[in-house]
This record gives sequence, structure tokens and C-alpha cells, in this order.
Amino acid sequence: MPMPAFNLLLMLAFCWFPVAVLADGTLSTERKEELETLLYQDCGSCHGMTLRGGLGPSLPRDRMATFSREALAHIILQGIPGSAMPGWKALISDADARWLAEHLQTDNPLETLAAPPRPGEQE
Ligand code: HEC
Repeated sequence: MPMPAFNLLLMLAFCWFPVAVLADGTLSTERKEELETLLYQDCGSCHGMTLRGGLGPSLPRDRMATFSREALAHIILQGIPGSAMPGWKALISDADARWLAEHLQTDNPLETLAAPPRPGEQE
């Protein structure tokens, strides 16, 4: 095989290799997007697409902040025995769970249940 073609193949191989966790343990943008989809679709099937609750309790930021990051990641990985809350450790890594916990505490769109939805916020 002529070298240029081989180099191109090599480059493609590296580009397509999924970089789930970068060297410093932080998650790739791609993985974060996957986890957000998981949160609002899969977790959302029980906790509500806007996390306002359903079969499972609502998960507003202010209440999530009352848990330690580790406790929240533990709940997500192990589930809550004796309840409908499943553990997710077969599907996500420790780093994934910690990212979800952080997202729930600091970045999820449902800030609090103490106030009505803001204009434009989806119900
Ligand atoms: C099959 C339904 C279901 C799915 C899917 C689900 N949960 Fe839950 N979750 C529950 C239920 C029910 C509880 C309440 C359990 C109890 O304490 O009785 C709960 C509790 C929790 C709690 C604790 C809340 C609190 O205030 O005590 C957190 C945090 C949580 N879930 C996060 C998640 C995340 C993140 C996902 C997705 C990765 C998820 N859940 C997926 C049903 C579900």
C-alpha cells in the first residue's frame, strides 16, 4: 500500500476512536451530551423530562445541592434498594455518575420548585 494512503487510514482510525474519557479524567463534550440525553430521556421517564417528578421525585437543583457530590453519584450508580430507582453502574462509569451529580446540582434547568416555571421554560 502506498504510504500516503496508509497515513490517511491511520489518521481516520484515530479520529474515529471514541474518546469517552480524556487523559485528565474529564469527560469529552460528546460524552457529556450523551449523558444529558440519558438524564432527560431515561431518568426523565421517571423523574419527568424537566425533572419535575413523576414516578420518581422531582430533582430540582436546590434540593440536589443538599446531597454531597459523592452521595448523589452513589445513588445514581447503585440505585435505591427496595424502590423503583435502578442502579446505572452497568451503563455508566464513576466519572459519568459524578458528572451527572454535578450537572444535577449546578446546571440542570430546574432550579427550584419554590418558584413557578419561568416564561419560556417547558412544562
Ligand atoms: C424506573 C424509574 C426511575 C428511573 C429510570 C430513574 N429513577 Fe431515580 N428514582 C426513582 C424513584 C422511585 C426514586 C425514589 C426512591 C425512594 O427513595 O423511594 C428515585 C430517586 C432518585 C434520587 C434521590 C432523590 C431524592 O430526593 O431522594 C436521585 C438523585 C435520582 N433518583 C436520580 C436519578 C438519575 C440521575 C437517573 C438516571 C440516570 C434516575 N434517577 C433514573 C425512579 C427512577
